[in-house]
Amino acid sequence: MGYRIVVAGATGNVGREMLNILAEREFPADEVVALATRRSMGTECGFGDKTLKCRDIETFDWAGIDMALFAIGSGPTKTYAPRATKAGCVVIDNSSLYRYRPDVPLIVPEVNPDAIEGYAKRNIIANPNCSTAQMVVALKPLHDRATIKRVVVSTYQSVSGAGKAAMDELWRQTKGIYVPGREYAAAKFTKQIAFNVIPHIGDFMDDGATTEEWKMVAETKKIIDKAIKVHATCVRVPTFVGHAEAINIEFEDPLPADEAAEILREAPGIIVIDRREDGGYITPVECVGEYATYISRIRDDITVENAISLWCVSDNLRKGAALNAVQIAELLGRRCLKKGDMAEAW
Ligand SMILES: NC(=O)c1ccc[n+]([C@@H]2O[C@H](COP(=O)([O-])OP(=O)(O)OC[C@H]3O[C@@H](n4cnc5c(N)ncnc54)[C@H](OP(=O)(O)O)[C@@H]3O)[C@@H](O)[C@H]2O)c1
Repeated sequence: MGYRIVVAGATGNVGREMLNILAEREFPADEVVALATRRSMGTECGFGDKTLKCRDIETFDWAGIDMALFAIGSGPTKTYAPRATKAGCVVIDNSSLYRYRPDVPLIVPEVNPDAIEGYAKRNIIANPNCSTAQMVVALKPLHDRATIKRVVVSTYQSVSGAGKAAMDELWRQTKGIYVPGREYAAAKFTKQIAFNVIPHIGDFMDDGATTEEWKMVAETKKIIDKAIKVHATCVRVPTFVGHAEAINIEFEDPLPADEAAEILREAPGIIVIDRREDGGYITPVECVGEYATYISRIRDDITVENAISLWCVSDNLRKGAALNAVQIAELLGRRCLKKGDMAEAW
């Protein structure tokens, strides 16, 4: 007997990847249900070599569902997550609605798997922001060895992080620049994104930071250690999938770059590609469809004591969202729900 599992937002960027990853990893499910809005009812969603017909979340009966992976944004989550949890379903949510609540664990399985035990307080587990997820995978093994004091990060975030409409905007705007009469004005983004970069993701806060930047600060503290100081600048760039980050890390204890590289090579979820030659590093297009967080350009920062810099790239729809959510579901099944037989590979 396996799990009955829902993917809410199955027609979206993240939901589609959730279905792909559940199939790829042979999640032990007896039933997988694809949900979205009424307008998507009947839409066929790929699930391995099968297709699932999308159902309307508004009229869905949650009875008997064990877990639900949500990727529908904060507003709709506020409506539907309580319906699911009331029926006994555990919600693994990708929106920011519950991330900062003390009674909701915020989990990256390679980093803080033990937090899973807290799921029962509300039957809700939160998935971090895409930029945070890949960064904490890289930071945790280094923090364990040399205690991180401060992180300064600049992101280069792909448009898929803003949903499927944002991907369409980049595509149409890029074509429109070359075809007279087909110009495409900025709508999802605040300025032209084609052939441009925009230093603004989320909403502006009183201190001049944006909410996306604040999320990286608050989530790193919640997932790894509240003593870590983070200063972030989040930038949207005209790539479709894959977020990159330039990260500067200052430690309490000495940690030379070559030793940091050795630690990262052994760390879960990480692949180090770092040859000091043309092309000896990873770029976003090369990480699309992959599970790993890739690290390149590891080097000493001699301008301050005990510091290094590195380049971190991952598929934002996978480790930044869908893969992390499926890994949480696996962890929940293995450690807490323990339903049915667990496959060896699981
Ligand atoms: N993209 C990323 O890298 C990333 C990373 C981490 C977290 N997230 C979070 O994941 C969530 C989904 O992001 P996305 O990129 O997949 O967005 P998306 O491509 O725009 O897809 C949105 C999905 O939500 C559904 N939806 C929209 N309004 C709804 C409503 N009122 N009720 C129920 N379902 C509704 C849509 O269904 P229809 O097709 O029927 O409209 C669609 O399936 C967001 O909370 C986002 O912040 C995204």
